[in-house]
Amino acid sequence: MKNIVLIGFMGVGKGSIAREIIKISDYLSIDTDDLIESMENKSIKKVFTDNGEDYFRQLEKKVSLWLEKSIKNTLISTGGGFYKQTNIKNIGTIVLLDSPFDEIINRIKSHPNAAKKFKKRPLLKDLRKAKELYKQRRPEYMALADIVVDVTHKSAIECSKELLKKVEQYG
Ligand code: S3P
Repeated sequence: MKNIVLIGFMGVGKGSIAREIIKISDYLSIDTDDLIESMENKSIKKVFTDNGEDYFRQLEKKVSLWLEKSIKNTLISTGGGFYKQTNIKNIGTIVLLDSPFDEIINRIKSHPNAAKKFKKRPLLKDLRKAKELYKQRRPEYMALADIVVDVTHKSAIECSKELLKKVEQYG
């Protein structure tokens, strides 16, 4: 089992899909944002406000080097900007969870915890800017991905099954 590295825009469902995958496979998962929160003993939002985005990206760099060196056979869920780490291809098979921007936003809005989901993500505060970020990132996500799973209008369970099947075929 190689590592599976989940990439994709904020709110696309990386966390929920990772939780389903571990139920139906031998994988356990780790999350780069969770690692950073425990390193710093504060929320991602607080890291952004106290220390700024550049500092957050440096922490992502540290995490990416550690993942490459030390982690095997694991499902790795990443923050939406983690794909910029230059060693990401050495970490494992890159799986992009893909969906149009408006679908992602509608999905977050329809969630019972919508307010919390927006609040914890500093880069979703201004939706106009977030859309620009999406437009800039989507081709870069696509170029990087070994596997793409379109998550639009699918449940986390459906996406997980499709993902595992594609990973198996990819080898
Ligand atoms: C970010 C995405 C967030 C988190 C941070 C920055 C980004 O993770 O890492 O707020 O640059 O897209 P999620 O993709 O899990 O929301």
